[in-house]
Amino acid sequence: MYKIFESSEDAAEALADLIVSRINEKPSIVLGLATGATMEPVYAALIEAHKAGRVSFAGVTSFNLDEYEGLSPRHSGSYRATMDRLLFDHVDIDKAKTHLPDGMTHDPEHEGERYERLIAEAGGIDLQLLGIGRNGHIGFNEPGSAFSSRTRLVVLEEETLKANAGFFSDRSVPERALTMGIATILDAREIAVMATGPAKADAVARALYAAPDADCPASALNGHDNVRWFLDREAAAELPDVDVRLRAAD
Ligand code: GLP
Repeated sequence: MYKIFESSEDAAEALADLIVSRINEKPSIVLGLATGATMEPVYAALIEAHKAGRVSFAGVTSFNLDEYEGLSPRHSGSYRATMDRLLFDHVDIDKAKTHLPDGMTHDPEHEGERYERLIAEAGGIDLQLLGIGRNGHIGFNEPGSAFSSRTRLVVLEEETLKANAGFFSDRSVPERALTMGIATILDAREIAVMATGPAKADAVARALYAAPDADCPASALNGHDNVRWFLDREAAAELPDVDVRLRAAD
């Protein structure tokens, strides 16, 4: 099911409201978190909600989708530093309960297994947040990733390196990363995907309307029965019936 919002700000507010409701329904919720520019306004709205006394993160456990390989958590481009900066440092979450794959591991296979085990021990993910790459990737599961894949080391595509270059000023984007697999993501009990801006329109249309296909990892989400898409008009622009839907909503 998807909903098209007038602006990316409106989509971010709606997703933040969903997260706040889910935390208030279950304060010990296990959240799956995503990085990327798309999520930044969502985290800003969550900080606002926390400051306004609408939500506490004190009982929350989190697992991020992915982390770059070989990047110290202190590097500003690491997803650990990014999550601290965008959310964790500004809310009452217990950082000991915030998890990311260890990008500094010398044993990626073991790290993948450790991460999967931690998620299982936490009781599984209640709500997984997702962005989508221009090539349809979810987490860092690039086209060709098996729908049965689990947390592992992957090689990033050229397009992904280019898209993420803006997050790195002092070095090039790491070419490998550890990511939850597609099967790991599909294990979440609920999934909320957000896509905004024209660069995502093609990937969104393929994910929602093409037959499930490893060439578009996000199309795997059609096999999950509790997925909500939060789109702005630009990201929804290539959906076949979008004009009709927008008219109906006006
Ligand atoms: C990145 C991340 C994904 C993210 C996606 C979109 O490479 N690994 O988790 O959802 O690509 O990023 P953005 O929101 O910056 O477009």
